[in-house]
Amino acid sequence: IETVVYENSVTASKAVAKEIADLIKVKQSQKQPCILGLATGSSPKGLYAELVHLHKEEGLSFKNVVTFNLDEYYPMEPDSVNSYVRFMKELLFDQVDILPENTHIPDGTLTKAEIAQYCSQYEAKIEVLGGIDLQILGIGGNGHIGFNESGSLQNSKTRLVALDHTTRVAASKDFLGLNNTPRTAITLGVKKIMEAKRVILMAWGESKSNIIKKSVEGAVVSQVPASYLQEHNNATFILDKEAASKLT
Ligand code: F6R
Repeated sequence: IETVVYENSVTASKAVAKEIADLIKVKQSQKQPCILGLATGSSPKGLYAELVHLHKEEGLSFKNVVTFNLDEYYPMEPDSVNSYVRFMKELLFDQVDILPENTHIPDGTLTKAEIAQYCSQYEAKIEVLGGIDLQILGIGGNGHIGFNESGSLQNSKTRLVALDHTTRVAASKDFLGLNNTPRTAITLGVKKIMEAKRVILMAWGESKSNIIKKSVEGAVVSQVPASYLQEHNNATFILDKEAASKLT
């Protein structure tokens, strides 16, 4: 696993945006789609702002980009203020020239009976396109990636999961209290994340420093799903100084 430390999250996010822009352009020149795996939450906000900037100021086109988001709360209506559909539209999709039909986010409106088949179709769509070229990740305080919480297996598939209490507490400020915070979510499984050709995990701030140390320097254990990335051959943790502060 590679770790790269930046002075702050702004410079770090710009570097990640540059890598993504370069990949999009290489794929364009090859007349190939560029398959991106995307995350929500606070960590990638600066990245999406920079990608929007590159589109508006430097003409970066997303016409050949296909995206698959990691997760969505369940149940969740797409037009709800807290939906990841809304997050992605506001911060990225509605501000660039990506084709709406090329964006994919797990559907929070399914019935329980529909979820299993939907999840295998979500994975099949990724496979048909040849897999994820570049996967963006944040990390939960407990080491979750996507909503693969502690205990998620390395070969876990896309599925409905129960959110950890700590994850719900972190989300509860957006939902105006724990009682309104969803208990479940649909997440891409660890297996598809590990199959991505390139993985970039971004983490900012002192509050992530302990879990970053465990994930990078600790044992590879299901308790800390981000530690699985030690076994990925092209994964980089992009950190600010604070998030990296406990690394030896
Ligand atoms: C979001 C996701 C989560 C977040 C993680 C960190 O799509 O998959 O794993 O990346 O909870 O969230 P922030 O960035 O808000 O600290």
